[in-house]
Amino acid sequence: MTPSTMVTHQEVVFYVNGKRVADNNINPEWTLLYYLRNKLRLCGTKLGCAEGGCGACTVMISKYDHETKKVVHLSANACLTPVCAVHGQAVTTVEGIGSTKRGLHAVQQRIAAAHGSQCGFCTPGIVMSMYSLLRSCSTGGSGHKPSMKDMEIAFQGNLCRCTGYRPIIEGFRTLTEEWEQCGSRLPALNGTTSNGCGNDLANGCCKSNGQANVNGCCKTNGAVNGCCNGGQMAPGDVEILFDSSSFKPYDSSQEPIFPPELQLSPVLDQQYLLVKGPRVSWYRPTTLEQLLLLKRNHPQARIIVGNTEVGVEVKFKNCVYPVLINPTQVKELLVIEDTEGGIKFGSSVTLNQIDTVLKSKIDSLPEHKTRVFKAIVEMLHWFAGKQIRNVAAVGGNIMTGSPISDLNPIFIAANCKLELVSKDGGCRTVTMNGSFFTSYRKNIVKPDEILLSITIPCSHEMMHFKAYKQARRRDDDIAVVNAAFNITFEKPANAHYPVVQKATIAYGGMAPTTVEASSTAQVFIGKTWGPHLVEDVCNALVEELPLSPDAPGGMIAYRRSLTLSLFYKFYVDVYGKLYGKDKMLSEREKSAAQGLKNLHPQSSQYFQVVPPDQPKMDPVGRTIPHLSAYKQATGEAVYCDDIPHYEHELYLSLVLSTKAHAKLIKVDASPALAVDGVHGFISASDIDPKRNNFGPIVHDEEIFVSSTVTSTGQVIGAIVAVDQPTAQRAAKMVKVEYQDLSPIIVTIQDAVAKESFHKGTQRTLKNGDVDGAMKSSVHVIEGDVHMGGQEHFYLETNSAIAIPREDGCELEVICSTQHPTEVQKLIAEATGMPANRIVCRVKRIGGGFGGKESRGALLALPVAIAALKFNRPVRCMLDRDEDMVATGGRHPFYGKYKVGFTKEGKMLACDVQFYNNAGNSLDLSASVMERAMFHCQNAYKIPNIRCKAAACKTNLPSNTAFRGFGGPQGMFFAESMITDMGAFMNVDPAKIREMNLYQEGDKTHYNQVLEHCTLKRCWSECMERSAYEQRRKELNDFNRQHRWRKRGLSIIPTMFGIAFTAKFLNQTGALVMVYTDGSVLVTHGGIEMGQGLHTKMVQVASRVLGIPESKIYISETATDKVPNTSATAASSGSDLNGMAVMYACETIKERIKPYIDANPKGKWEDWVSAAYFDRVSLSATGFYRTPGIGYNWETNSGDPFNYFTFGAACSEVEIDCLTGDHQVLRTDIVMDLGESLNPAIDIGQVEGAFIQGYGLYTLEELTYSPTGILYSRGPGAYKLPGFADIPAQFNVSLLRGAKNPRAVYSSKAVGEPPLFLASSVFFAIKDAIKYARSEVGLKGPFRLDSPATSARIRMACQDEFTKKIIVNEDVTPWNIVP
Ligand SMILES: Cc1cc2nc3c(=O)[nH]c(=O)nc-3n(C[C@H](O)[C@H](O)[C@H](O)COP(=O)(O)OP(=O)(O)OC[C@H]3O[C@@H](n4cnc5c(N)ncnc54)[C@H](O)[C@@H]3O)c2cc1C
Ligand code: FES
Ligand code: FES
Repeated sequence: MTPSTMVTHQEVVFYVNGKRVADNNINPEWTLLYYLRNKLRLCGTKLGCAEGGCGACTVMISKYDHETKKVVHLSANACLTPVCAVHGQAVTTVEGIGSTKRGLHAVQQRIAAAHGSQCGFCTPGIVMSMYSLLRSCSTGGSGHKPSMKDMEIAFQGNLCRCTGYRPIIEGFRTLTEEWEQCGSRLPALNGTTSNGCGNDLANGCCKSNGQANVNGCCKTNGAVNGCCNGGQMAPGDVEILFDSSSFKPYDSSQEPIFPPELQLSPVLDQQYLLVKGPRVSWYRPTTLEQLLLLKRNHPQARIIVGNTEVGVEVKFKNCVYPVLINPTQVKELLVIEDTEGGIKFGSSVTLNQIDTVLKSKIDSLPEHKTRVFKAIVEMLHWFAGKQIRNVAAVGGNIMTGSPISDLNPIFIAANCKLELVSKDGGCRTVTMNGSFFTSYRKNIVKPDEILLSITIPCSHEMMHFKAYKQARRRDDDIAVVNAAFNITFEKPANAHYPVVQKATIAYGGMAPTTVEASSTAQVFIGKTWGPHLVEDVCNALVEELPLSPDAPGGMIAYRRSLTLSLFYKFYVDVYGKLYGKDKMLSEREKSAAQGLKNLHPQSSQYFQVVPPDQPKMDPVGRTIPHLSAYKQATGEAVYCDDIPHYEHELYLSLVLSTKAHAKLIKVDASPALAVDGVHGFISASDIDPKRNNFGPIVHDEEIFVSSTVTSTGQVIGAIVAVDQPTAQRAAKMVKVEYQDLSPIIVTIQDAVAKESFHKGTQRTLKNGDVDGAMKSSVHVIEGDVHMGGQEHFYLETNSAIAIPREDGCELEVICSTQHPTEVQKLIAEATGMPANRIVCRVKRIGGGFGGKESRGALLALPVAIAALKFNRPVRCMLDRDEDMVATGGRHPFYGKYKVGFTKEGKMLACDVQFYNNAGNSLDLSASVMERAMFHCQNAYKIPNIRCKAAACKTNLPSNTAFRGFGGPQGMFFAESMITDMGAFMNVDPAKIREMNLYQEGDKTHYNQVLEHCTLKRCWSECMERSAYEQRRKELNDFNRQHRWRKRGLSIIPTMFGIAFTAKFLNQTGALVMVYTDGSVLVTHGGIEMGQGLHTKMVQVASRVLGIPESKIYISETATDKVPNTSATAASSGSDLNGMAVMYACETIKERIKPYIDANPKGKWEDWVSAAYFDRVSLSATGFYRTPGIGYNWETNSGDPFNYFTFGAACSEVEIDCLTGDHQVLRTDIVMDLGESLNPAIDIGQVEGAFIQGYGLYTLEELTYSPTGILYSRGPGAYKLPGFADIPAQFNVSLLRGAKNPRAVYSSKAVGEPPLFLASSVFFAIKDAIKYARSEVGLKGPFRLDSPATSARIRMACQDEFTKKIIVNEDVTPWNIVP
């Protein structure tokens, strides 16, 4: 029998949200996500990365197991799931569980009401992760509620760039077991978590543990601020952040039933599927015989189970595999059976199934038998996210043979047995050892063979087994280095202690394959376990696991030192187990073996409540949820790419430069143009050369490169085709020939050496007599530090649709921009159309953070030009890798400083020199640099300052605005300087900080007088709330008791100037229209990007007009409603637009007043109607420009800022000195936001900015090749903070009684200011490293560049292990720091 003679089925049948889909025209290359969005038009499921790394595409897949007769519900990434793979299964998307019209699901209600949705782009994916968890718990047999731990695991694969995660956790906490047990359903009080208490429920809340009546409450558990009885609440503070009492209980019996067709009949499961597409065929055999035959006939075929390896290869490495075989119906590959010495798993068994089975074995078998199982279970916790583990199989991990596979080191160290089988060769069993992998991703399995199963052995009494993984981020990250150790002891008859009889060690991340360190293993043999062994083993590892200085992956010294560190952890662990009380290691030394664990988050939020006499209808100051939150939670909220396709619409795909500096020799689009469905190629020849330039200030970039590329990611041209797959495939076929040019300038150092600066950006800002003050200073110290850039990673990538109207005489552009006016203007300039024929519209964007202020134009322009050329609507949404490579990010900075100070630490003078890496065009780099200069003293009075700066011109994609706009970089240098002063003087830097804080009436170095300066209040309150002094003492004790784990503490203030530093940008307008039914439509110049701007604007309009928010609507931002607006940026959205909306509403109110006076008992509708019949205009514009600002660089006079937002944060961290891992134990923030327009939104901004800043200062690292090519192009390689990274205790408090006379209703801007507070984590880490260094006698200042990655932390700690590693620095490394 051959497959060709069998009955095969081409039709793919599955259910989506209860509806049957049967399609016999499916292309096997389509993912489920593509099918949902493009064929079924279910756009709630989002595309964030296409590589399984962000969770935006999460759906629930349910299948019926006809053997166990159970329905299994799993969360999965639709972006990696081939649509063919869901044959016979049921898919549930966010639309399927609830809607604002049909009613919200409990999960949707909670995330929205708890303020867990800001831009909303991540929300459907997060909703579906939680929903899948609830469903899997309720059908998992016991019908239990999920625990906090279950929730932690469920969200490992989801990212959110806006919220900082805390509100999402708080909202969903109400669905957990712990919530149920803890009194539940009480509304959350101000100053408490939503559970009614600042304590971690898992640890026992005062409501449940009875402490409330005994000693006040859970304060004893550490919830100092967040406690319901903590004494922090002011009288009258009975206000809620969200009201959990209104939540309907989750009732699993109300869930839709599983499709009966799939349950009643196994027919679909038993079908032999053969789906043929134009390039790829999908086979789903049902027997082993069929599978082996297929593999013999197609030895190059890929076997697809989870598609989590192959899916990424196909999408990002342009691999085409003509034959795909899906073996998930072949029962031999699904076996799970006990064997004599272990457990056998079929190769298609998923990682989560393995986890479940091994956990039950660990529970049921004696401990000594399960040590390998335990190592696997522990490893699986850190392996990808749950969505991946739900579908990815063990066979895929083994067969891919990635050098950083997490399981292969364990399988090798445990000598697992593999069964390989082929049609002609039959079955053979091999042992997994060092010779299984032959080279990079190659192994000994023959092309016609398949992997049938793996047998994992039980351990025994004398065997010690452990595995370790070190990654940059603990959850859902690939390993930097991993290792597994297997040591068997024997006790010779006459020996006192056991000796090593056998050793097997395997490492990942140290070579092109997983390696067995067999020479090192020999060193153990016959030896007792003791310090002598450590030295010998370390020396052997250094010898056996070298890495060339230019090895792929970089971090050479770190990776090599990890091989020793991980061994030492194992050594200490075994030591404790082997000798017990007999030969105790000191507690200090034992700290080597203890890793950092995720802790259940605790939190508290304090804010000022509205006065009791404020009318109920007046929403200003109240915690109103984001007005789109409910639509975002149901997937109904429409983003640019969710807009239904227009008739005759075309798709555009960019051809981007792949060289950093080169001449274009030839661009040949002919292979692409030959592809069926391609309509054309556009490039520089399609545009008048005089119009081919653009830029926000200086037009120094080309829309399409005409002759020379100066960075990767520049637009050379674009393919326009019938649909996305065709356009993207064809764009990759455009051949570009380059001639390399030199130099390629990547780093700031290179640029400085070559004096490559953008014209006019070399500036000096000087105040006082710096040289004189330096001379009279008791101490003068110098230092330098580098701060890395940051990728915006808004969850929605840049997208645009251009629709020609009136036969190309008008153009409508819908795009994801923060600056519609600029898009309109640039398109007008590029096309020669007057601006009045171009409308740019934005409904909402899925995050911006500055990245969509100016850079979005590089996509909107080609899309607009293509639409006019073809006279058809054209659309494009960038893929994540394209977005990352083309649009730039936050500027890396390098700075040198010199500071003079008194013996007490009072700063007298400071001399700083900054350089930023601006990339290949100017963009906004000069303004970014100016803000860094304004903020170079952060919050400190330094009487004499000289700040010099220059923007470096390099061959990187142009860097741009990013939340804080140079401020976080400038302030970072000030804080690094003070930290060095502390180290130099051997005093706590907090003392120096406090001593130098600005006070009311002080003048800054740009001569602005500080008014309403609440800096000291924020500082003192933060000191007090964080119990700084007491915790410093506790921390000293901890650090004395632990050699290998150290804690650090830091408190950092911030002072952020509010206004665009370019004066003309501080203006905006609003249009308010009242309709005769009384409904009000507001439009203003700001963009809703998650920050709740529209919600706040409705609150303002509601107060002025005196009507409920429900009567007011904001639909979109559009250039034909409000013209000539500035970007929604510089934190000024609410300040500017709030005033404009207020003025417009006041005009209307003024016009309606006579009718109110005439009928005081009437309703709004009556007055509006009366005014209408009286022929009164019911629409009005408002215009606002910030008064009293304007700075003159020549004279160093005039105020650049309208006012300042102040704050302070205290963070405590713990680091693992051996691995560089860290954990934030607690953060306390106090922020002056004036009289907040909406405390829930503002607290969300504070938390979100803090976590984004936390990423900036600790995790997020862009890696570039020495030739300027970006390696980190997606969430796999570029790590944002995840759910597990938030501070274990996270307390946010808004300063009370701090009015701000300079903004709408006394509020303050919030978007950017809190971001810098996350540097408190960086400086706490530096503090912890200081303690580690003092263990080996290192004292005084040391340089720590940002971000404080695990590699930097580890290498800064320095000890006997790092000393052994010497790296040749003369060799050009794999990556460099720009
Ligand atoms: C976001 C993300 C995070 C990840 N994180 C981690 C991580 O933390 N640690 C880690 O180690 N890996 C990680 N991976 C890699 C991947 O998930 C694992 O390797 C997974 O086990 C692959 O299984 P799969 O079923 O999806 O493989 P597939 O993609 O379906 O197949 C992979 C390969 O294995 C071959 N193959 C599969 N089964 C057989 C068989 N029976 N016989 C012969 N060949 C076979 C296929 O031909 C194919 O070449 C991650 C991947 C993603 C996308
Ligand atoms: S889009 Fe699927 S995980 Fe990011
Ligand atoms: S709300 Fe999560 S990414 Fe914006």
